[in-house]
Amino acid sequence: MAAYENLLLELNNGILTITINRADKLNALNIDTIREIKNAIQQVYDDADVKGAIFTGAGPKAFVAGADISEIAELSEVNARSFAERGQEVFAMIERCNKPVLAAVNGFALGGGCELAMACHMRVASDNARFGQPEVNLGVIPGYGGTQRMTQLIGKGKAMELMMTGDMISAEEARALGLVNHVVPQEDLMPKCMELMEKIMTKAPLAIGLVIECVNAVFNKDENGYQTEANSFARCCTSEDFVEGTNAFLEKRKPAFKGI
Ligand code: COA
Repeated sequence: MAAYENLLLELNNGILTITINRADKLNALNIDTIREIKNAIQQVYDDADVKGAIFTGAGPKAFVAGADISEIAELSEVNARSFAERGQEVFAMIERCNKPVLAAVNGFALGGGCELAMACHMRVASDNARFGQPEVNLGVIPGYGGTQRMTQLIGKGKAMELMMTGDMISAEEARALGLVNHVVPQEDLMPKCMELMEKIMTKAPLAIGLVIECVNAVFNKDENGYQTEANSFARCCTSEDFVEGTNAFLEKRKPAFKGI
């Protein structure tokens, strides 16, 4: 595995846990960390031993408390645009990954932290987690896809409210809004994520990857999602795993999928 300064990577039973490891700065995302996240997610794409990934933050207090404000403060207009575009590119890689990616939100998920969580396919939060897009407090707006993904996840009215007030919400409020899938006590956070991931990993990997692609197609204006779905359905029907899945059902046994 590549060397990382701001991330801890741990591979267990095919699940790569990617921990943002700047606890003294509440895991704020500086540019180096964004670059490392890009390398780590590329590893998820490329490494056949990695079946899925979980993002989390070091320490009990924060998932990620935002982009690193000391770096943002220094940005000029030109640099700021490419700063946002680079972050957006990395978060789009997470969103489009054909293997499941979960966010284990273990505390503050603010600004870029909330955006990182929203780029993941699902979010599980500990009951101390707090979510928000407080950029307006700094005179700026979300730049890593937050205006788009938050609106997709919770709808226009609530997204407007959160991004215009900069208010933080609790994990329970985030769950009620559909921003997170599950809320659990902090000690149960990783076990819950592992349980979800292990369940998904018993399914046909090709089908899982195509579910991700089709759901993402809803939000791509240039794509006919129904056509993407029909094509993907047809692709599944030509796979060995489809033969295995249907045979296993008829033979009343558990399928053994191979990802082909
Ligand atoms: N960027 C850079 N450093 C950050 C940071 C960020 N987004 N968030 C927290 N930190 C740093 C603090 O500066 C502090 O560093 P120091 O010990 O060297 O002074 C350290 O992390 C601990 O944060 P602190 O503010 O002392 O913790 P707290 O418990 O009092 O408050 C928060 C927690 C999350 C409410 C507060 O840190 C905060 O508001 N952070 C910024 C959130 C934000 O606006 N994010 C969007 C950025 S675009």
